[in-house]
Amino acid sequence: MTQPKAYRAAILHSLGDPAQVGLEASHAYYPDGVLVVADGRVRDIGPADEVLARQPAGLDITRFENRLITSGFIDTHIHFPQTEMIASYGEQLLDWLNNYTFPEERKFVDQAHGARVAELFLDELLRNGTTTAMVFGTVHKASVDAFFTASHARNMRMIAGKVMMDRHAPDYLLDTPESGYADSKELIERWHKKGRQLYAVTPRFAPTSTAEQLALAGKLLAEYDDVYMQTHLSENQQEIEWVKSLFPEQKGYLDVYDHFGLLGDRSVFAHAVHLEQEEAARMGETDSVISFCPTSNLFLGSGLFDLPGAEQRGIRVGLGTDVGAGTSFSMLQTINEAYKIQQLRRHKLHPLKALYLATLGGARSLRLEDKVGNLAVGKEADFLVLDLHATPLMQARMNNAHNLFEQLFVLMMLGDDRAIAQTYIYGECRYRRDH
Ligand code: GUN
Ligand code: ZN
Repeated sequence: MTQPKAYRAAILHSLGDPAQVGLEASHAYYPDGVLVVADGRVRDIGPADEVLARQPAGLDITRFENRLITSGFIDTHIHFPQTEMIASYGEQLLDWLNNYTFPEERKFVDQAHGARVAELFLDELLRNGTTTAMVFGTVHKASVDAFFTASHARNMRMIAGKVMMDRHAPDYLLDTPESGYADSKELIERWHKKGRQLYAVTPRFAPTSTAEQLALAGKLLAEYDDVYMQTHLSENQQEIEWVKSLFPEQKGYLDVYDHFGLLGDRSVFAHAVHLEQEEAARMGETDSVISFCPTSNLFLGSGLFDLPGAEQRGIRVGLGTDVGAGTSFSMLQTINEAYKIQQLRRHKLHPLKALYLATLGGARSLRLEDKVGNLAVGKEADFLVLDLHATPLMQARMNNAHNLFEQLFVLMMLGDDRAIAQTYIYGECRYRRDH
């Protein structure tokens, strides 16, 4: 057993979905709290006087001023190979893919390139307080080996997969139904549940896979019942029309995935901005998940996601940055844009709901709620020390904020990587802003 370590500051974490349990029961807040960590897990948490009374004397305590401890952020949709093409100008989805994304992803045929970008990407996640993510590689098996090698070395809980894509992209980026299946299988065998790593079968989206390939993706899911599936869905009107023309025998976009057995409680669909009623109902029935990617949906002009609509159907929703179409690695900035999208839909995104989506809601979306998502005793100790006074403006505004609700909202509107003072992974400090 390692020596327990204690951290004393204000502590906030999510306990449930405000839509299900109400705002009060959705969180725990200790203005003067202590978090005790041992062997990579949460050992104790609560008000300082209570926790310290139950812990042995001589406990190693680190104390923070004007800081807020929370659990790490969870990004349910992101592309690591698109790190160096973030902020590419001018296009909507299909042209953006052809003009910028595919040429960038070509570079990952070289494992050394993948290894370099994986390190940059994981550094960027840590400096933004993201401790778990669901990640696309490229079509190249080597890109996913490079990614998992780097995340395993940092002991970060990551889900990733090799893109399956056998048509409608340049030749240099295509696999075949057979090679996509075999490479994915090999990666599952090598990486799924190795340390904290988990695998997701990753057909890019319906237009870039043949029926044969989608059938083999379904076969992999049937063969390995606890691997994940990630793809894109109903992001852009032109994309939807294209899918309908490619699969005329199916009822619509979601039905293509449904037909090949790709729906389920470990299946995460990015975007779902333009779902039909019947599709939303089917997602609820199959317990499939939506990743809401606000900065990407605005950047590519895709549309305004209907969060309460998904909620009414009982669909689990997580937040995603979708970098490189997303414009920030910061989940705080992602919440900022989510708030504005909901404003345009005449819906208020409460900061405690936003906290839930970025932490416990993300964990539930990824079926990781028994491991991460909050700081309940026994969970893996992935946590953040947030700086409420990260900039002069934040400091001035915080001094004018009168309760937790206001502080949290200001943090979400003004905060970004500058607000992340430290990031801990499995109880170890892996990022310190001031170093
Ligand atoms: N649809 C298919 N591929 C992609 C991608 O890389 N990014 C986004 N945003 N949508 C996609
Ligand atoms: Zn994406």
